[in-house]
Amino acid sequence: MKALVLAGGSGSRLRPITHTSAKQLVPVANKPVLFYGLEAIRDAGVREVGIVVGDTEAEIRAAVGDGSRFGLEVTYLRQDAPRGLAHAVLIAREYLAGDDFVMYLGDNFVVGGIDDLVGRFRTDRPAAQIMLTRVSDPRAFGVAELDGDGRVVGLEEKPEHPKGDLALVGVYLFGAAVHEAVAELKPSGRGELEITDAIQWLIDHGHRVESTVITGYWKDTGNVTDMLEVNRLVLESAEPRVEGEVDDASELIGRVVVETGARVAGSRIVGPVIVGAGSVVRDSYLGPFTSIDRDCAVIDSEIEYSIVLRGASIDGVGRIECSLIGREAEVTPAPRVPKAHRLVLGDHSKVQIGK
Ligand code: TTP
Repeated sequence: MKALVLAGGSGSRLRPITHTSAKQLVPVANKPVLFYGLEAIRDAGVREVGIVVGDTEAEIRAAVGDGSRFGLEVTYLRQDAPRGLAHAVLIAREYLAGDDFVMYLGDNFVVGGIDDLVGRFRTDRPAAQIMLTRVSDPRAFGVAELDGDGRVVGLEEKPEHPKGDLALVGVYLFGAAVHEAVAELKPSGRGELEITDAIQWLIDHGHRVESTVITGYWKDTGNVTDMLEVNRLVLESAEPRVEGEVDDASELIGRVVVETGARVAGSRIVGPVIVGAGSVVRDSYLGPFTSIDRDCAVIDSEIEYSIVLRGASIDGVGRIECSLIGREAEVTPAPRVPKAHRLVLGDHSKVQIGK
C-alpha cells in the first residue's frame, strides 16, 4: 500500500498566511500540521508516500525532504493548478501503479491515527473506504448517505439540503478501480474534479464503498478558527519541559514547554503554552493554548489562545486573543497622539480593533 498526501491547493481561507507559505506547514504546537499526517501514515505501516504539491513545492520539499526522518520514502508529484482532489489522483496514477492507497489531505488533523481504518480496508478490500464523522452543519462538507448496513449509497459535495449529518473526513482508502472513475469525471460547478464524484461513480458502477464513522477528533485546519482549536487540543496533552532559561521573577503554571535557547524573564505563563527555541518572553503574560514559534519576541505584552509564527515580535500591546500572527510580523502600540491605528497589512489580512 502507498499513501497520497495532498499538499497543494490554493489555501484561500487562510490568507494572507498562504500568500507566502503553504498552509500545510502552519505549526500546531510548533510542528507543521502536515507532519502529524505523515506520522499517522507511517504508524499505520505505510512507507511509500507521494506528496502532491503546487506553487509551494519548494517549501514543502525543504520541510519534508526525502521523508527519511519520518521513516518514509517520499516522492513529489507536481500538480499544475489546484484542479480538485480527484485531479490529484489523476496525476498520481503512474506513481500509484495500481497499488491500494490511502489518500490524506495534508491540512487535516485526525486524532487517534488511521491504523484501524487501514487495517479494516486491508481485510475487507472494498473499492473505497471513507471515514465519516457527525457534524452540526453538514452543508459545509462532503456528506454521505448510508444504508442500514453502513454501506455508502450516495454522496453529495456541500449540499444545500443534506441527507444526513455524516461528513467526509479527509482520509480515504482506494483500490485500483478509482483510476477508472477519475478518468471518467468532468469538472464540477466549481471547476474541480471532485473526489465525491469519483466515489459516487464507483457506487453507480456496482463497486463496494464502505465507511467507518469515527468518534475521535477531526478538523480541517483550512481556516483560522479550526487551526486555533487544533492547537488547543494538541497543547492540552503536551508534556511540560523547560530546556530554555526562566528567571526567578517568572512564574510557570500548568503545562508549559520552554524549548532550548528560549528566554523567559519577569513573565507569567499559564499553560498549556509552548515557547519555541530562541524566543524571548519578557515582562509579559502568556495565557492558555498559545504557541510561540522559534525566534519570536513577546515583550511587555499579553497574549492568549493564539499561534505566533517564526520570527514575529509583539511589543508593548495589551491583550491579544484568538489570533494567528504570521512570520516576522511586528505588532507594536501606536503613538499616544494622534489617537489612531497605523496599519501595514498584507492582501487579505483581517484585523479586529477594540474601540
Ligand atoms: P482544500 O482545503 O479543500 O482546498 P484549498 O487548499 O484550495 O483551500 P481553500 O478552500 O481555503 O482555498 O484542500 C484540501 C487539501 O488538499 C489541502 O491540503 C490542499 C490539497 N489540495 C491539493 O493538493 N490539490 C487540489 O487540487 C486541491 C483542491 C487541494
